[in-house]
Amino acid sequence: MNIAIIGSGGDGAGMNECLYNLCKNLKSHNVVLFNYGYQGIIDNNVASLDLKTLKNERKNGGIIIKSSRSSEFMTPNGFKKCLKTLEQHKIDVLVVMGGNGSLAGAKELHSAGINVVFIPTTIDNDIEASDYSIGFNTAINNAVDFVQKVNTSMKAFDRTCIYEVMGRHCPDLAMQVAKQVNASFCFVSTSKKTELVNALKQAYKTDLAPIIILQENTTPADELKEYLQQKFPKRDFKVAIVGYVQRGGVATSCELKMAKGFASCASNAIKNKQFNKLIRFDSAKNEFIPINI
Ligand code: F6P
Repeated sequence: MNIAIIGSGGDGAGMNECLYNLCKNLKSHNVVLFNYGYQGIIDNNVASLDLKTLKNERKNGGIIIKSSRSSEFMTPNGFKKCLKTLEQHKIDVLVVMGGNGSLAGAKELHSAGINVVFIPTTIDNDIEASDYSIGFNTAINNAVDFVQKVNTSMKAFDRTCIYEVMGRHCPDLAMQVAKQVNASFCFVSTSKKTELVNALKQAYKTDLAPIIILQENTTPADELKEYLQQKFPKRDFKVAIVGYVQRGGVATSCELKMAKGFASCASNAIKNKQFNKLIRFDSAKNEFIPINI
């Protein structure tokens, strides 16, 4: 079989582990790696990487075959070029590692007759069908580490910091981080500023450096800071954008395990010619089995 693999959209730690395991599990087939996601297919940009190189990279964040957000892929001409390259390589199935936008692209290709297998990889955890997407756990850990480090200084000055975390339009990352750092408030798209004010009034009774976690794309951090400054003129407010540190660094061991699991599931599907599938993780699937198995 001729199998193509791309990484698309925002990178996340664990993507390299997933890629390595896919290539290892499918080594008896012809695996074509395209650089730069859908754009790389359009440009016929093939990566030549051996298993040893992929293995060396497996724990690192990022994605060794690069990613991109391709606007050309969204045009009829770009889409046609993408189909042409896949045809040229006689690709039997395309494996897409990506988030929400990449899934939409994979569905378009499927509609155009290309066999696809989709693996959720995004720190946003915004693939509806799966309870987990690769990169999420490491992103939480990175953000928690950032908040805890910065907040030691906030404590020294009795400052209140608003920490803006990524997640695009999905609150999962913000909410998990808020839980782990014991935030006084997690501001998501449904939150009201008055609720935040009430939470701070409560918090100030025992804590002069309460933590506010803000989900990006909800309300601008600086405006929220100004608003709070007016409500609490005696307090000193700061903003810290957690940013790309969430996507970086070394994958957590939990991430590596999840990535290996997703890769193994995808490889088995491909070996059995079970195409046009999305690999999902079901967190409710703990089982009850005899102890002496
Ligand atoms: O989708 C992953 C993500 O990291 C989002 O959380 C964030 O909004 C976005 O990507 C940032 O995109 P870019 O890497 O294009 O700046």
